[in-house]
This record gives sequence, C-alpha cells and structure tokens, in this order.
Amino acid sequence: MMSVVGAQPFIKPMQTPTSISPGIQRRHTLPASEVRPLNTQDAISVFEIEREAFISVSGECPLHLDEVRHFLTLCPDLSMGWFEEGRLVAFIIGSLHLDCLSLPQEALTLHKPCGSTVHIHVLAVHRTFRQQGKGPILMWRYLQYLRCFPSVRRAVLMCEDFLIPFYRKSGFKVLGRCAITVGNLTFTEMWYPIRGHAYIRRNSEAIRFPQHPLTLPITKTDERVDV
Ligand SMILES: CC(C)(COP(=O)(O)OP(=O)(O)OC[C@H]1O[C@@H](n2cnc3c(N)ncnc32)[C@H](O)[C@@H]1OP(=O)(O)O)[C@@H](O)C(=O)NCCC(=O)NCCS
Repeated sequence: MMSVVGAQPFIKPMQTPTSISPGIQRRHTLPASEVRPLNTQDAISVFEIEREAFISVSGECPLHLDEVRHFLTLCPDLSMGWFEEGRLVAFIIGSLHLDCLSLPQEALTLHKPCGSTVHIHVLAVHRTFRQQGKGPILMWRYLQYLRCFPSVRRAVLMCEDFLIPFYRKSGFKVLGRCAITVGNLTFTEMWYPIRGHAYIRRNSEAIRFPQHPLTLPITKTDERVDV
C-alpha cells in the first residue's frame, strides 16, 4: 500500500480535548465535531446510512457491508468520516485503481495500491443532517486531503444523472457514460484533477482541518488551489 506518512498529520480531530487541571477528574466527553479516517469498527454505522440512503430507495447500494469492511481494511486512509458527538453523520469511502479511460467493473471491488486514480465509491450524509452543506464540505476536505498523496492524480466517481449538478459544484467534470450498470441504474462518470504534493509545498490552512468544519467557507478560490 502507498505510504501516507506525510498525509497522516492532516487527519486529526477538529476539536482536541482541553487541558485538564490537576485534581480535576477527566470527563469522557465526545468531541462535538471530528473528521477522521474510518475503520472497520465504523462499518455498521456506514452501512446504516447507506441502507437508508440507497437500499430503501432503489434496493441497491454502492457498497454492501462486507465491501465496506473490505475497503476499510485495505485502504482506511482513503476514507473520511464526519462525526458529531461520536455519531457518524457523513462519510466518503474511496480506493485506488489504475488509470484508464473508463471505470472498469473491477474498480467496484478492488483496491490497486499502485494506482493513481482514487475511485470515490460513495459519499453519503445521514438523513437528518442533509441540506446543511455537509456533503460538499466533506467532499472539499477529502479532495484537499488527496493532495497529500504524492502519487494520486485524479479522483473519479460514478453518479446518477440527477446528481451531476451537485458534483459539478464541487469541481467535478463529466467524463462520459459509465460502462457499469447496477440493476436498472445507469451512471455518469465524473472526475476531478488532484494537483498533489500540497504538504510538501506548503502547510496551509487550506489542507489542515480547522477547528470546526462550518468555520470553513467553500469559495471558488478554495475549491481549486493552484500549487
Ligand atoms: C447527495 C448528498 C450527499 C448531498 O449532501 P448534503 O449534505 O445534503 O448536500 P447539500 O446540503 O449541499 O444539499 C443537498 C444538495 O444535494 C443535491 N441533491 C441531493 N439529493 C438530490 C436529488 N434527489 N436530486 C437532485 N439533487 C439532489 C442537490 O444539489 C442539493 O442542493 P439543492 O437543495 O440546492 O438543490 C446527500 O443528499 C445524500 O447523502 N444523499 C443520499 C446518498 C447519495 O445519493 N449519495 C450520492 C451517491 S453518488
């Protein structure tokens, strides 16, 4: 698997515990907001969101529970979860695959550590937290985070056509029709260039997780930072 030593410092809790005065017993409170990579222990929470977001709608979902566990075992550093008081409210799961013109079927299940394209399998926001801008914020952070991986050149995803405008707002461009179908569902492929090595060139606030996600406005300049 690719080295992410340089990338890891950027994934850290958005709120760190305050210092504890001597003599005052530690209170085990959960951080109000936290963004961190997912692990296999988060798989059930991930799947619960997917169940509501996808299975209840179309009977299908991007990743079944065993596939969630599979990717969170193989490449947890390509996932990102947003937690509010310990509860998963939004997440992204990605894996690497080799460059090619169109997403191959195997991209749905495989992780190719030597690949330079991140396949974003799924972005989903818990139902009660939608329409608050969390999806675009998490996506923006994820795309900035990917710049810390020296070999990553692009991110690709497949989405149903009604979500094309949504991903366009995050800077994705349409690649074309996706050869993959799932049941009756058809998809469009979209991509986003990753201009990498941000952690080498600068240590800017643009790629550091700030104290609170909502303190970070998404602007045109933020969406694409030239390096
Ligand atoms: C799509 C999703 C990630 C958006 O996250 P969010 O945090 O709610 O995003 P926002 O707060 O910006 O607001 C919702 C936006 O999502 C898009 N959207 C969500 N559902 C949509 C739908 N059924 N049709 C069209 N656009 C939709 C719209 O752009 C909408 O913005 P608008 O209300 O101004 O039109 C979220 O709705 C979700 O998790 N949906 C279920 C899972 C899913 O479809 N994931 C994408 C798989 S490729």
